[in-house]
Amino acid sequence: MKILFLNGPNLNLLGTREPEVYGRTTLADIEAKVRERAVQLKVEVDFRQSNQEGELVSWIQEARGKFQVIVVNAAAYTHTSVALRDAISAVGVPTIEIHLSNIHAREEFRHKSLIAPVCKGQICGFGEKSYILGLEASVFVNETDK
Ligand code: DQA
Repeated sequence: MKILFLNGPNLNLLGTREPEVYGRTTLADIEAKVRERAVQLKVEVDFRQSNQEGELVSWIQEARGKFQVIVVNAAAYTHTSVALRDAISAVGVPTIEIHLSNIHAREEFRHKSLIAPVCKGQICGFGEKSYILGLEASVFVNETDK
């Protein structure tokens, strides 16, 4: 089973970006922890980040037939991108939305996720653990979709 992790804009700055909100763990550290858990679960992981909406859209399109599940932290695009929502909907690869912070407990503009209605579910508010929970949810989704 292959899982594609996608990370949106500014997540490359994790570690130094608003540490009171996002913690001090870097994206590379998170990737290492995801890979460690993936070995235990016997699944394959591809882990990518882009600041560009179009690149994220292309990666979602290319996932069809190659990945069984997508786990996406779309960052700010969560709240703005019809293009990402349409890509997820178009390819039909089961997708899990994740966030480090609890977007519902923050500014009002973060409460709305445009991608949530086309995702299997949403995990938010658990810091870096949201990524591990996203990985575990992927295995669950893949099993239950069979
Ligand atoms: C985020 C939450 C978003 O609102 C924000 O724009 C981000 C990060 C999170 O992981 O908590 O960049 O997706």
